[in-house]
Amino acid sequence: MEQSGAQRPEVTITPCADGPLLVRGAVELRTQDGELIDPGRATIALCRCGRSAIKPFCDGSHKVAGFRAPSGPLRDPLRPEPDSAG
Ligand code: FES
Repeated sequence: MEQSGAQRPEVTITPCADGPLLVRGAVELRTQDGELIDPGRATIALCRCGRSAIKPFCDGSHKVAGFRAPSGPLRDPLRPEPDSAG
């Protein structure tokens, strides 16, 4: 869903349903030691299933593994929804 009235962010991260995190925009990917990682492409797919052989990138293994996760946040059924009135 597009944000109305808000300025579009320079970087977006999209959790794909049952798949990777897609990172779009001007970002630097670095190791924890600060070494630059060249993703080799403009849109980066980061693994969130833990099965990729080329971490931190997605290699499609999530499909074979049957990884399941929604695009949006999981809701705890025992917690009340945030009050939308503020
Ligand atoms: S999300 Fe694709 S291999 Fe992990």
